Amino acid sequence: MPNDHLFDLTGKVALVTGAGGGLGVEFAAVMAEAGADVVCSDIDLASAEATLGTVELIGRKGLAVRCDVTLHHEVVAMVDATVRQFGRLDVLFNNAGIADPSPSPVHEFDLEGWHRVLDVDLNGVFYCAREALRVMVAQGSGKIINIASMWGLAGGSSVFPVPAYNAAKGAVVNLTRELGLEYATRGIQINALCPGFYRTKLGAYDDPGFLAAVTNFTPMGRVAEAHEIRGPGLFLASPASDYMTGQTLVVDGGCMAK
Ligand SMILES: NC(=O)c1ccc[n+]([C@@H]2O[C@H](COP(=O)([O-])OP(=O)(O)OC[C@H]3O[C@@H](n4cnc5c(N)ncnc54)[C@H](O)[C@@H]3O)[C@@H](O)[C@H]2O)c1
Repeated sequence: MPNDHLFDLTGKVALVTGAGGGLGVEFAAVMAEAGADVVCSDIDLASAEATLGTVELIGRKGLAVRCDVTLHHEVVAMVDATVRQFGRLDVLFNNAGIADPSPSPVHEFDLEGWHRVLDVDLNGVFYCAREALRVMVAQGSGKIINIASMWGLAGGSSVFPVPAYNAAKGAVVNLTRELGLEYATRGIQINALCPGFYRTKLGAYDDPGFLAAVTNFTPMGRVAEAHEIRGPGLFLASPASDYMTGQTLVVDGGCMAK
């Protein structure tokens, strides 16, 4: 295969959950730039529509869909809408996620917050993977990129305690291994992407104390801008990563190398 096809997604259809937020916007944009049509899904329809506008400006087609990933019937409807509109699904960015509502140690942790984080960050990933796989198995091809976190690989308390997030993201990393193995012979690659600190609404980056703490923790001495996730996302969605499955790609300014 010539090198210029390694990152070419012409004719492909990508679906991004949480597409209205920081990293989701970047995944949608880079998919469109690589030639894919992009379904932009979010619990907040207006933000998904804004991202669809970006996709269309790049010159690709798309669809904006409201979907709360914690509601299985809405996930089914989202995948159905994708297939109805485009006839296939080649790439799923399982990206929608939330942080622990108020970072606190476990003995003070709010139970409702625990369940909500597990619901969005783990159950939502499972529902979306399940419904996407039903299409991809029939196609005999597909790529799923589960957006985990470096906090799926290590405890977060050295910076701040996020126990529910740690538990959910760790589970996503191991679910990714299991899915990679299950579908290894079916032409479907499933990998996890583990970002470090990226400037989005997920973290309190406007708070100087938070920014100083995460900057100090990061060997490169800076947080990443959201657009810096585009390259790793494109790699995992494209033919460049065809022999990679069940793995985690850590893109964190060196944090997990410590
Ligand atoms: N920003 C970081 O530093 C960082 C680091 C590691 C991992 N991540 C992961 O990256 C992913 C994207 O995070 P982000 O930084 O772009 O956050 P963000 O808050 O900027 O965007 C998240 C998006 O998900 C949507 N969303 C929230 N709950 C949803 C639900 N139930 N159903 C559907 N959509 C929902 C929000 O409306 C928002 O548009 C998350 O899974 C997050 O855990 C982010």
